Amino acid sequence: KLPVIIDCDPGHDDVIAITLALSSDKLDVRGIVTVMGNNTLDNVTKNALKALELLGRTDVPVIKGAVKPMRKEHVSAKGHGSTGLDGPDLPEPTTPVVDKNFVDYYYEVLSAASEPMTIIALGPLTNIATLLFCHPEVKDKIKEIAYMGGANLACDFKEFSTYSRTAEFNVWQDAESASYVFDAGIPITMFGLDLTMKNGVTFDEVEKFRTEGGRVGNVVAQLLDFYFKAHTKVGLSLCPIHDACPVAWLIDPTLFSVEHRDISVDFEGDHTYGCTYVDMRFHKEPTKPTYWASDCTDRARFVQMLLDACKSYQ
Ligand code: BDR
Ligand code: CA
Repeated sequence: KLPVIIDCDPGHDDVIAITLALSSDKLDVRGIVTVMGNNTLDNVTKNALKALELLGRTDVPVIKGAVKPMRKEHVSAKGHGSTGLDGPDLPEPTTPVVDKNFVDYYYEVLSAASEPMTIIALGPLTNIATLLFCHPEVKDKIKEIAYMGGANLACDFKEFSTYSRTAEFNVWQDAESASYVFDAGIPITMFGLDLTMKNGVTFDEVEKFRTEGGRVGNVVAQLLDFYFKAHTKVGLSLCPIHDACPVAWLIDPTLFSVEHRDISVDFEGDHTYGCTYVDMRFHKEPTKPTYWASDCTDRARFVQMLLDACKSYQ
């Protein structure tokens, strides 16, 4: 099993990503570190605990991460409602968070691991940038980062960001941190909006989760009912499940096409704060271990994987 830590800001799609990760016999989820993003740190942390309660996995430790971005003030996302997880009534948490500073947690777990670990990052990269700033040497203990964030603007996709014309929400929330992490020399694979916007579920498939997905599938359908609203408003007929993409890739790499490309994050431009530039020049040899996930090879198989994940919970 691949040892992983999930760094996230639940979030409807974060919860579905957690559901997928915890159902897989390929992944060993050692812990969940939260980060402000979709909502305040307190709310997203509560949402992570609720998700674990739903999944019957309160054994997974939850650690509170960064309360604000490096330089800006935190801004909650609109599409996830006032709690960050509006829609279904999830069980209240019965377990507390681990009483440990997130930098210490990461440092201790990564240092003690017998092999470099993978981080699945599904929110702003503030926690990871802070960790690398405090303990640069820990970089060698991170095998890779599978990241949902950013977008390749060279691609044709329908932007879904009320915050910026050029940046995706997770990167826009804290572009300074994102830039630091993308330039850290750690292999990072970016699942951006250009891919995730095309890789969602249809209305009919949401109904399949409700009727065939058991107890957890029913909750996932309710999460999608809410999340879909934000997307139909901008004319989409597919509801993206952004954060599940990097998890699905780790479980089955054949599901996605990935290209080795230099990716840089801008944090200085007036109009391009948080923009992730993917160098698409065909003659340009990449100089950094940054990778761009360009496509899902089989959307139906991706959806089936999510449905099977739901069914695996009693
Ligand atoms: C990303 O932003 C968040 O709202 C979602 O959880 C996802 O991680 C998509 O832009
Ligand atoms: Ca997220």
